[in-house]
Amino acid sequence: MFGYRHAFHAGNHADVLKHLVLVQLLDYYRAKQKPFWYVDTHCGAGAYRLDEGPAQARGEYRDGIGRLWDRTDLPPATSRYLELVGRFNPDGKLNRYPGSAWFASEILGPADRLWLFELLPADFQALRTRFSADSVRTRVQCQDGFAALRGLLPPASKRALVLLDPSYELAEDYARVVDSLADSLRRFSTGTYALWYPLLRRREADRLPRQLGALAARAWLNVRLMVRRRPLDEGGLYGSGLYVINPPYTLPAMIEAELPAVAQSLAQDDKAGFTLDFEIP
Ligand SMILES: C[S@@+](CC[C@H](N)C(=O)[O-])C[C@H]1O[C@@H](n2cnc3c(N)ncnc32)[C@H](O)[C@@H]1O
Repeated sequence: MFGYRHAFHAGNHADVLKHLVLVQLLDYYRAKQKPFWYVDTHCGAGAYRLDEGPAQARGEYRDGIGRLWDRTDLPPATSRYLELVGRFNPDGKLNRYPGSAWFASEILGPADRLWLFELLPADFQALRTRFSADSVRTRVQCQDGFAALRGLLPPASKRALVLLDPSYELAEDYARVVDSLADSLRRFSTGTYALWYPLLRRREADRLPRQLGALAARAWLNVRLMVRRRPLDEGGLYGSGLYVINPPYTLPAMIEAELPAVAQSLAQDDKAGFTLDFEIP
């Protein structure tokens, strides 16, 4: 199961969409100034080199963060995300890219808690080392993120954001994310859940939006960023989506304002674009 290493994909178009929205969610909850939990069920290594190793070999980041890095004309939420990536590269060169846990640790405050799960031993070790100095706020565990989530909900803080970001290497991940969200909503119906999912020609991926809709969450938002036309065969990712349950009411307007420029910047052909659907009563 451990063929997937996020180091190969760090900073690609999928990370851009996921982390752009994640930063907005974290900023929104942080502003409330009440203790808050962040749960990252599939954390990766927490930080990646772009100037050497796997990311350099594949170069996916060049068509992701690489296309935005030097831009000064992007709308505010995208600029905010870029500012954070810049903070992670203090010498001004795009040599490294932060993982989801780093964005959370940077934005959340001392009274907040971060629960970070990663199953791949090498990435777990890197993650643990990275957060070893932050052990009061942060728990890092080498554990199945879906199982760990069950044990955490409902959170003592009564406020939480859960990021579910599996690699979908295993077909069963598609079913597990749906089961995990259904179970989590039963345990903690008011939590905010952000699920990343791939857009690729695969039966399980095509079925996922319908299954997420059937969860009948009271409030939800689904944003999809396509960077190229849907391939005719099973070839790679043509985009990705984020399904957010119980999103802040501000999120749709943010996406409407930001995604046109992001989609245009990351476009690989004339079929690039984005879709946004939501229901926030
Ligand atoms: C897409 S990557 C995560 C990227 C990270 N969330 C970010 O945005 O920086 C998915 C990670 O999940 C890990 N993984 C796979 N199955 C897992 C499981 N059942 N529980 C926890 N981690 C798992 C993989 O080793 C991989 O590092």
